[in-house]
Amino acid sequence: MRATINEVNAKGRWMNNNDLKLILNTNLALIVIETWDETRTLDLLQDLFQCASMPAWRWTHTEGLFPLGFGLELANPEQYAEAEIVLGYIKKYRKPGAFVLCDMHPFMESAKVIRLIKDIALDFENSQHKLVFVSHRLNLPAELSRFAASVSLSMPSEDEIMGIIREQAREWADKHRKSRIKTDSATLHSLVKNLKGLTHQDVRRLAYGAIADDGAITEADLPEVTKAKFELMHMDGVLHFEFSTAHMSDVAGLHNLKKWLEDRRQAMSSNHGSLDPPKGVLLFGVQGGGKSLAAKAIAGVWRLPLLRLDMAALFNKYVGETERNLREALKLADLMSPCVLWLDEIEKGLASGGEDSGTPKRLLGTLLTWMSERKSTVFMVATSNDISQLPPELMRKGRFDEIFFVDLPCHDTRHAIFRIHLSKRDLEPEHFNIDALAQLSEGFTGAEIEQAVVSATYAAAARELDVSDQLLQAAIQQTQPLSVVMAERIAQLRAWASDRAVRAN
Ligand SMILES: Nc1ncnc2c1ncn2[C@@H]1O[C@H](COP(=O)(O)OP(=O)(O)OP(=O)(O)O)[C@@H](O)[C@H]1O
Ligand SMILES: [Mg+2]
Repeated sequence: MRATINEVNAKGRWMNNNDLKLILNTNLALIVIETWDETRTLDLLQDLFQCASMPAWRWTHTEGLFPLGFGLELANPEQYAEAEIVLGYIKKYRKPGAFVLCDMHPFMESAKVIRLIKDIALDFENSQHKLVFVSHRLNLPAELSRFAASVSLSMPSEDEIMGIIREQAREWADKHRKSRIKTDSATLHSLVKNLKGLTHQDVRRLAYGAIADDGAITEADLPEVTKAKFELMHMDGVLHFEFSTAHMSDVAGLHNLKKWLEDRRQAMSSNHGSLDPPKGVLLFGVQGGGKSLAAKAIAGVWRLPLLRLDMAALFNKYVGETERNLREALKLADLMSPCVLWLDEIEKGLASGGEDSGTPKRLLGTLLTWMSERKSTVFMVATSNDISQLPPELMRKGRFDEIFFVDLPCHDTRHAIFRIHLSKRDLEPEHFNIDALAQLSEGFTGAEIEQAVVSATYAAAARELDVSDQLLQAAIQQTQPLSVVMAERIAQLRAWASDRAVRAN
């Protein structure tokens, strides 16, 4: 039984409440429920135990032991507020019952607490005592985990979310003496999608917030809701919500990539159930070639939230936490879908070798499993400038929809990059001989061209001059482009790309 339970959990699927029932009926003494929604969890558990006519109690460190449904009232509940005392009491209690322990996680370091829980678990056949741990996060020590099953609560379905929104709308309208609130069905549909993956309580709160600002549910409410949802997921540090996505018009060249994305635009929109959503791309190439910029533009053109996974921040000094961070980040991306998940500089987390080669291996395993099994509309964009560091398993055909090589920009693309970066600085491209500049900057990356434009503006300001062709040319001539310094590396990249990747530009 335990194996199947763990299998289900490892895939990060939300169980429905039938699973909750099933697990409470197993012969395992310990149940772990990790949730942020304690109120609803306690409600569900109370229902469950009442239906099963099972006496149950709830314990908190502040209030002690209270009946949950059929449990008997205790004379002085607060005298059981200490973890060791309540566990000692349960151990000696001679009738069957379930004990729901909220926030036991801080006490899991104590040898005595662990021993008491183990005593209770070992005596399960006799005593029929079930301990249900409800915490936002709980790591059971190894000696206890063999007695335990873990459960996730199901989140409200789309229909339920719609119901909650309607209920909140009615509440707002009644309060403000309005007959109804303004919205349209497309926006409402998007709001439901945005609220998926949140607890009942949070759905209610965010839906009310979206209505209460102006008595309507409009497109303008959606980014706020997405942002609030992201913040509720508490993934600070590992997964970042990128507010400033780019426009494709900010990206010069990369024509093949742009066309590829354009062809898949429909499939990414949530209204197109019949098309398989694309899974993701890997962009690799020289530094400063515009890979990160392209990742931002993908989210921009598809109008999807962009989540950036910080590969370096994944690593945690505690064994096991690194993988857990990745699992949680992927789960959150699933919950935020449709979205673009950007793994910038993916080699930083997955490069094999080094002292601790076990962790990158396990991370890779977690990532590959998620990539092959996910059902959500999460488009993954991985970027890398050191393909030699990436594990071959990741590069195997079929992992990504496509692997794109971002080469140095050609003459026309350099031309376009100059135009973009001059315009960004309020300089009229028509006033410059861009053809000549593009010629002179052969072998430059987009970043180097941008840098040359920036240097020319500084030089102009220092001399109280306007930016001119001469200043731009001087800036170009003073630059030693990477393609010269790293000619060999670039040749290697091209050779690798020639039969394994598609050209992005
Ligand atoms: N094709 C392009 N069009 C317009 N601007 C570009 C282009 N390529 C690069 N740039 C400019 O260079 C900057 C740096 O590029 P970006 O960070 O996207 O490169 P990268 O390939 O991710 O580099 P790295 O490998 O160092 O991460 C961009 O923010 C942009 O201003
Ligand atoms: Mg980059």
